[in-house]
Amino acid sequence: MGESHRISKNRTSFIFVIKNDGGVIIRRFLKKDAKRACDMTIRVFREFVAREFTKAGVKKWLSEQTPEEQVKRSASRDVFVAIVNHKIVGMIEGVNSGNIRISRLFVDKHYQGTGIGKALAGKIFKLNQMRGVRELKVYSSMYALKFYEHLGFKKTTGLRKKHGMIYQPVKKSLKP
Ligand SMILES: CC(C)(COP(=O)(O)OP(=O)(O)OC[C@H]1O[C@@H](n2cnc3c(N)ncnc32)[C@H](O)[C@@H]1OP(=O)(O)O)[C@@H](O)C(=O)NCCC(=O)NCCS
Repeated sequence: MGESHRISKNRTSFIFVIKNDGGVIIRRFLKKDAKRACDMTIRVFREFVAREFTKAGVKKWLSEQTPEEQVKRSASRDVFVAIVNHKIVGMIEGVNSGNIRISRLFVDKHYQGTGIGKALAGKIFKLNQMRGVRELKVYSSMYALKFYEHLGFKKTTGLRKKHGMIYQPVKKSLKP
């Protein structure tokens, strides 16, 4: 498991170092990231999450994960990417309408376990704490459940299934 520590910070991005590798830059998603971010999320989805869905669920999820849809969503969501050596290795979306939640958190297989998922989630925690949000929800994949529980999320209901997609609703209180 890689140890990480922050080495610099400003309002929109920060950099930290992961063990045995270079710096990770966390910054807001830009239109030019759309294709690479989609390629990464689709690859990670296929490797870790698709097996939890039915065929119809996989098809539906993939139909919504195009560069065009990603750009559209970024207009109304807080979207951040993690970059190592100019490569997009992680992404997260914070949804801020009604149900405040984290969506589409994905970290490249080779960088999982190095603190990138936690750093991306931390970005959404801080932004929403500053906005006075008291509670954050996630529809967690089965694969990510232990990760979210490790970050302090608790199950709110049993498993949910919709359009062939299966997820576990969890929530976490944000301290003011
Ligand atoms: C879930 C995911 C985003 C986690 O990202 P990550 O970068 O590997 O996680 P991190 O390295 O930041 O881990 C943060 C902490 O959670 C812990 N953790 C991560 N995965 C864990 C697991 N499966 N079980 C227990 N603890 C776990 C780590 O040990 C670490 O603990 P520490 O802070 O005490 O050192 C990543 O595994 C992923 O992309 N999964 C596939 C896609 C997916 O399921 N996304 C969620 C959609 S809702």
